[in-house]
Amino acid sequence: MIRLTIIFCLIIQIYCITDKINERRILLPYNDGIPTNFTLETFGDENACYKWSSSRSDIASVKPLPDSTTSIATLSCSKRALVTVVSRIPKHQSTVITAHDLKTNLQIRCDVEVDAISRITIQTTTKEIVYGELPETIRVFAYSDKNDIFTSIGGVSFDWNLIPSDVIRYRPWSTSSYASPDFVEYWESRGRKSSMILVEGVKTGSAKIRATINDNESMNKVEPAEINIHVVANLLLLPSNDVFMVPGSTIHFRAEISKQGPRVSLQFPNQQYYLEVYD
Ligand SMILES: *[C@@H]1O[C@H](CO)[C@@H](O)[C@H](O)[C@H]1NC(C)=O
Ligand SMILES: *[C@@H]1O[C@H](CO)[C@@H](O)[C@H](O)[C@H]1NC(C)=O
Repeated sequence: MIRLTIIFCLIIQIYCITDKINERRILLPYNDGIPTNFTLETFGDENACYKWSSSRSDIASVKPLPDSTTSIATLSCSKRALVTVVSRIPKHQSTVITAHDLKTNLQIRCDVEVDAISRITIQTTTKEIVYGELPETIRVFAYSDKNDIFTSIGGVSFDWNLIPSDVIRYRPWSTSSYASPDFVEYWESRGRKSSMILVEGVKTGSAKIRATINDNESMNKVEPAEINIHVVANLLLLPSNDVFMVPGSTIHFRAEISKQGPRVSLQFPNQQYYLEVYD
């Protein structure tokens, strides 16, 4: 019975190959001086090793990336590969990347579309930044003229304006405890900014964040993207529960603020905070 099961499993393994790739289709901007890269990754069989090829290497090229078990020198096949945009023409073009496992003859494909950026937006997970807390990630998303979203825009650098400059400030990824994608490091190490930045609150108030593509002229036609952000304080009024009072009596309120550490009492009057009572 056990032998039968083993044979059955072997047959399944040969005919039901389950290897997968992280993306079926990717959209990347054309190469305007600095190419955008994207890492393709396969999952499944431990021993699989793929030879990578691009049907139009003048549009996007592919090269194997070493994993822990292979060395770069002997790298003819791999589980991961780096796609790099080659085309410098600002129009829609595509190429097919094929991963071919010579041992099992299995092929996996990924379509790579290359196009020009037509529109950008800024996305955040919150419009409210708490003063004194960890920095927030602000990210630009780009769209083609067909309104398809770009998978990565790592080769494009951006000008970021934070207005006014004393409410929020830019925080380099290298000084934060967050891991950043390779392209963030690429631009930061050259004194420029990528499509993703970290910002932190300097004081409470409202601020505008504006991102503009900072590349060769052809991309400059894209309108800048803007969002409004509020920096709020992590304030607690004490007592914080409902209070019932006899007319004419008084109550003493305290306010405490927390900035990544223990709460501290605020002294009043205070330049930044005041108490307002609605009846
Ligand atoms: C603009 O394009 C030129 C070549 O076409 C390139 O050398 C230069 O690095 C590009 N500039 C930027 C900001 O990407
Ligand atoms: C893209 O990959 C190439 C080749 O590995 C590398 O030289 C380049 O710095 C990468 N570009 C970015 C923006 O990370």
